[in-house]
Amino acid sequence: MNTSSCIGISTMKPCCRFLIGYRISSIFGVSNFKSRDLVTSNLSKSQSKSVLRNGEARCKVIGYNKCVVDPNRRTFCVSDSSWGPAKGLGKSSFRVYKARKRGVLVIPNVASDFRNHSTSIENHVNEKGFERIYIQGGLNVKPLVIERIESGNEAVKEEDNRVDVNGLGVNLDNLKHLDENVKAQREASKIEEEAWKLLRDSIVSYCGNPVGTVAANDPADKQPLNYDQVFIRDFAPSALAFLLNGEGEIVKNFLLHTLQLQSWEKTVDCYSPGQGLMPASFKVRTVPLDGSDGAFEEVLDPDFGESAIGRVAPVDSGLWWIILLRAYGKITGDYALQERVDVQTGIRLILNLCLTDGFDMFPSLLVTDGSCMIDRRMGIHGHPLEIQALFYAALRCSREMLIINDGTKNLVAAINNRLSALSFHVREYYWADMKKINEIYRYKTEEYSADAVNKFNIYPDQIPSWLVDWIPNEGGYLIGNLEPGHMDFRFFTLGNLWAIVSSLGTPKQNEGILNLIEAKWDDLVAHMPLKICYPALEYEEWHIITGSDPKNTPWSYHNGGSWPTLLWQFTLACIKMGRPELAQKAVSMAEQRLSVDKWPEYYDTRSGKFIGKQSRLNQTWTIAGFLTSKMLLENPEKASLLFWEEDYELLETCVCALSKTGRKKCSRIAARTKILV
Ligand code: GLC
Repeated sequence: MNTSSCIGISTMKPCCRFLIGYRISSIFGVSNFKSRDLVTSNLSKSQSKSVLRNGEARCKVIGYNKCVVDPNRRTFCVSDSSWGPAKGLGKSSFRVYKARKRGVLVIPNVASDFRNHSTSIENHVNEKGFERIYIQGGLNVKPLVIERIESGNEAVKEEDNRVDVNGLGVNLDNLKHLDENVKAQREASKIEEEAWKLLRDSIVSYCGNPVGTVAANDPADKQPLNYDQVFIRDFAPSALAFLLNGEGEIVKNFLLHTLQLQSWEKTVDCYSPGQGLMPASFKVRTVPLDGSDGAFEEVLDPDFGESAIGRVAPVDSGLWWIILLRAYGKITGDYALQERVDVQTGIRLILNLCLTDGFDMFPSLLVTDGSCMIDRRMGIHGHPLEIQALFYAALRCSREMLIINDGTKNLVAAINNRLSALSFHVREYYWADMKKINEIYRYKTEEYSADAVNKFNIYPDQIPSWLVDWIPNEGGYLIGNLEPGHMDFRFFTLGNLWAIVSSLGTPKQNEGILNLIEAKWDDLVAHMPLKICYPALEYEEWHIITGSDPKNTPWSYHNGGSWPTLLWQFTLACIKMGRPELAQKAVSMAEQRLSVDKWPEYYDTRSGKFIGKQSRLNQTWTIAGFLTSKMLLENPEKASLLFWEEDYELLETCVCALSKTGRKKCSRIAARTKILV
């Protein structure tokens, strides 16, 4: 069946098309959904009709040109001409939206008004014993108090005042400091200026519109591989830099164009991954226009993993897309984008992939190795923390953005249940601190029973020798991965930072993670923030776990290298926990080297002393991460739009019906007696 349904893309200029193979299935026809009722067409009749009507109208306007490329191709057009409000919304969904805006609860457990804030602490503290245990210590967390972020100008003013006050007695020391401050400020802004220029140089345009940034713009790079593409995950800090700078257009274009890529059917060796999959990256190619002499057209060419080294699955792409969509709404105030029918469908398709039933025994997401920032074999298959933390954040975003109606209420309920189960699972089983490691050290094994203490049958000998010396008395972290009989005790930075940002960890755990980073500064930051993971795999472990990967030798690249792009996420986490000075320290250190070193992708050696052996220069997410960190520190109120506080309603949700049947004890209920925090 050849279906070519256009749902109206406005800003797509005539000559643009996509270079992807695809067959059947319109996005609203949803012919190949694998899951049951979660995502079955959630659109009301009136919605789908009006969407198609818009599409038809749009297609007529552009009918004589090349928007719809080929009768076999199913293009997914975006509907408005000004990227304005969704036109496809039927009356019914509008009503629901209005109701939601007024804070009316449409279904139980859907906290109202997610858009503005997470469930507030005041309403919920001391309500339930369970909460008290589960989030014990939560209220001890320092609130976000940022008294003052000192800028050079302020420093100058202060110095000026002192000079004025002293009047005749001019203090030369003060003047010297004044000079130094002004100089440092001038230097800093020169570095930022350079970073902005480089960031702008990395912009990729499609049919005249900015749609993303290339991964790296290294002029000396003779073999760019796919670094000349727009990576979804790499665009996250670029998007935030632009948004914080008041430039929303590129982000909107990015979100809408990648949405179109998602809806194509993709095949890898005759197998089609799920419809909601977002590509790892895409490229704008210029190809000769069919049948025309010497004319060219631009096409979008995505990579869903079918060309990627190792054929890794870009699981994190869809999660980042959802996170960015929310950030766009929060920072620009343009919520119309997320309310559009096509965008709502995009969210649901991603969630469909994540929430679909499988053989899993855990609420965490089961993935193959290399399915996130670490996109090579590194022993992170199974349930790696990075994916769980991004998954949790994306679920929290989706819960805020999904328009609740009859078609989505099951999905929203599924999201709530998963959020609750996932946070319990990670908080309870991934947490490692002195006390927990001591418990594991004394674990009994081979326990067959629902009441087992050592549920995953972890042999105490698994505790690595480095950890025994390394774990500080204060603080702790979430381990890298948890599987039957296996705990990966390595510290993975991105996952831990996102656990803080999304409140996947308890308030006390989140505080503990920052304490650990501070206590282990020389290991995790040293000469360049921040280690992607700690420690490196060496010797036999490196051979066996990486498959002798020469790019991931010990203390290089993914295997214990230092990645400056992690700085913005660290900054966000620090601001959330009321510790901006910690982020400031890391940013200042990075500032001293990044421009001089030409903005490398990563650094090598145990302490991050050398520019990475195969590191690209002018790496965009290094540049954008630095700028974003700077702007977050200057605008902590904007930063607060990008993180979440503890949601007390989620803690109340326990979907485990086992206790009702009386068959078995719910381990969550059982765990109340031995909660870690
Ligand atoms: C490397 C990184 C990956 C990044 C890509 C583009 O493959 O591992 O996380 O997205 O480069 O910068």
